[in-house]
Amino acid sequence: MITVGFYDAKQYDLEYFNKINEQYGFNIKYIEARLNADTVMLSCGCDAVCAFVSDDISSDVIEKMSECGVKIIAMRCAGYNNVDVKYASQKNIPVVRVPAYSPYAVAEHAMAMLLTLNRRTHKAFLRTRDFNFSLNGLTGFDLYDKTVGIIGTGNIGNVFIDICKGFGMKILAYDINRSNPDAVYVNIEKLFSESDIISLHCPLNNDTYHMIDRNSLSKMKRNAFIINTSRGALIDSEDLLDALLNEQIGGACLDVYEEEADLFYEDNSEIIVRDHILSRLIGLPNVIVTSHQGFLTREALENIAATTLENISAFFSEGSLQNEIKIIAKKDQSPE
Ligand code: NAI
Repeated sequence: MITVGFYDAKQYDLEYFNKINEQYGFNIKYIEARLNADTVMLSCGCDAVCAFVSDDISSDVIEKMSECGVKIIAMRCAGYNNVDVKYASQKNIPVVRVPAYSPYAVAEHAMAMLLTLNRRTHKAFLRTRDFNFSLNGLTGFDLYDKTVGIIGTGNIGNVFIDICKGFGMKILAYDINRSNPDAVYVNIEKLFSESDIISLHCPLNNDTYHMIDRNSLSKMKRNAFIINTSRGALIDSEDLLDALLNEQIGGACLDVYEEEADLFYEDNSEIIVRDHILSRLIGLPNVIVTSHQGFLTREALENIAATTLENISAFFSEGSLQNEIKIIAKKDQSPE
């Protein structure tokens, strides 16, 4: 029987993987710990390792996996910037992933965050639970006729464009590939200066790292909202905090954060969080943070489980891999 070492396992993973695994019959060894140099030995005896965005799959971890007899690394996510794919290839361990599982999940979450921050429903909910029916401080703005700048018009960005069109918003788009024939593409400077809302939907790579920084923030409208459901390091968090404190922009919706790896997905309510930037961001009234949950819908979880197990099955049955990560240009890192 094929054994799969499943790192960073959460209750919702078990629910969907166990259900889909009824068709495959793998022996899934769920491991609560994240994969890193300290925990990799737990994969000894496993034929496959299944990992996620916060796992550390660097060369030393891969080396140990190889010694342990692991034959394939199956990422249960789209991105692989945490995997040393080149080293895995040298060790003859293919890395597979789930390239797309539900663009709707992430795009809808981006809109949920925008509506929440704009109309203050998170605050209204807390107030009315305390029979506080005051409206002071809850004023938002109409999304209708506002301009939304979309950076990255791939699967998720295009769904977000459609959602925004439904609200009667004007769309400006920026992408290195102008692949959406219906989008109005502009240069990035115009997008920064003319957008009321800017939503990031491009991958993290050498070109996009800290694309939102002091310089780009200084070009934005004073009331602009930034939404980031893509990758934390697209934004220089310290510069974002400064811009918010200086009232240079209007607010931020963050589903991802550049230093999220040690915090997100876990209950840290009983520890003292020493990340001062995150603490200050969370403390601001015009910022909302969610814990990288854009993907968290039933449909996405089901698709993730189905594709991941099919990837593993394909490898062990016929060896042909549709979703294998191929090493291409150096700078072409992954989506998340
Ligand atoms: P995709 O690959 O379909 O689209 C990405 C788009 O970004 C492409 O059109 C590409 O040409 C464009 N792009 C690449 N480099 C660029 C650059 N330098 N400037 C502007 N555009 C550039 O990816 P998809 O599926 O739409 O995902 C987008 C991002 O969403 C992922 O990279 C990932 O970081 C994030 N994501 C977040 C999740 C969450 O739970 N919050 C879940 C899944 C993905």
